[in-house]
Amino acid sequence: MRYVMKGGNPLVGEVTISGAKNAALGILTAAILTDDTVTVENVPDVSDVTVLLSAFKEIGVIVERPDRHTVKLNAANIFTACADSPYIKKLRAGYYLLGALLGKYHHAEVSMPGGCNIGNRPIDQHIKGFRMLGASSHNENGMVVLDAKELKGSHIYLDMASVGATMNLMLASVLAKGNTIIENAAKEPHIVDMANMLNSMGARIKGAGMDVIRITGVERLHGTEYTIIPDQIEAGTFMMAAAITKGDILVRHIIPQHMDAISAKLLEMGCEVSEHGDAIRVVGRPSLYACNVKTLPYPGFPTDMQPQMGVALCMADGVGTITESIFENRFKYVDELNKMGADTEVKGSVAIFKGGGNLKGAELVAPDLRAGAALVLAGLAAEGISVVDNVDYVLRGYEDFAEKLSNLGAQIKLVTDEDELQKAKLKIG
Ligand code: EPZ
Repeated sequence: MRYVMKGGNPLVGEVTISGAKNAALGILTAAILTDDTVTVENVPDVSDVTVLLSAFKEIGVIVERPDRHTVKLNAANIFTACADSPYIKKLRAGYYLLGALLGKYHHAEVSMPGGCNIGNRPIDQHIKGFRMLGASSHNENGMVVLDAKELKGSHIYLDMASVGATMNLMLASVLAKGNTIIENAAKEPHIVDMANMLNSMGARIKGAGMDVIRITGVERLHGTEYTIIPDQIEAGTFMMAAAITKGDILVRHIIPQHMDAISAKLLEMGCEVSEHGDAIRVVGRPSLYACNVKTLPYPGFPTDMQPQMGVALCMADGVGTITESIFENRFKYVDELNKMGADTEVKGSVAIFKGGGNLKGAELVAPDLRAGAALVLAGLAAEGISVVDNVDYVLRGYEDFAEKLSNLGAQIKLVTDEDELQKAKLKIG
């Protein structure tokens, strides 16, 4: 699938942000820790969620979607702790089944995680933690196999503040005997959201959102109704869209505090950023100041906003840099920007953007989810028509991306074949 777009319109208006994809993937998996029914609301309608739910069905979870954003799960009849479907192989978040199945059944076999190719993504910290809780682990035919007679609370120190390991170890330890301490835990908003959800099921987790999380194991968890937080990265993408297209966007239904690192950079670049309850308005400027950015775990500048910031730096006056400190291969979009006339180079973990705007429409390929979204924003700022291929990546994490952009005045269409592409080009060209 491809997006075809004509750039040049400042994006103006209001956009409502969907539920957080990366929270939803963990929270939906947490729901299988109980045999009671769990209802999760504000679930984003994105393909990663659909794929995860398909994988759940294959192991016996009853999944209902009473409306587009509500999922009801009942995991009383899971008949296997082996999750090896093609669905799981497509996802990074499939690895949360390791923690949840181990926690509930003391046995888990899950395909090695997939997900965006943004560098080597080891899961050694997850495995280290599972072992410390009392599980054995080995790899067999592309599967991670975990086994435990019983799980006992432990003191786990993470070598890096890994989002995935923190969530997985919460899943594995809430039903373990005794106390677990996770030190150097990740502090992202979705960590707090998952802990709140588990606590609403009867878990005893304290300290989520801080460096040290303390978990007291309980015997069983019960059903709950839970609403997922708004997506920090979707919100940040639209905030950046206002800066990149010199527009004026009110980004609604967000938690402004989650956006602090992004708001601060937009202010530094000269944008107007103002809070209005659960909304933030960003007004772009005719010319943006360049700046330097380093990606860091929360509350630092998110790696998932790095490519969108890269496009903003292409539109700024002067030279800006981005240092990527989380993933080793997250600058693949830079070559695509250079096809549009940008002047950008990568030296190790630093990308240097010479700025100046003047992007020209081009044929582009999305290398991963966030970079795909960033290339769409570049296409909307460029002169002429751009086509972004491989956008299945974008659909993994952005609900109704083209529709939301169109409502802000963008000329953009999602097309599935050559015929549709040619028609769309004629229409918007
Ligand atoms: C999550 O990935 C997100 N994915 C990513 O979002 C996000 O970029 C990332 O967190 C950082 O915020 C999901 O939530 C499904 P990490 P995750 O474990 O959990 C290293 C998106 O676009 N590490 O925090 O895989 C790792 O290699 C996606 O929505 C180990 O070395 O990230 C990386 O350098 C892309 N060993 C760093 O830690 C481990 O055992 C942080 O990774 C675990 C991680």
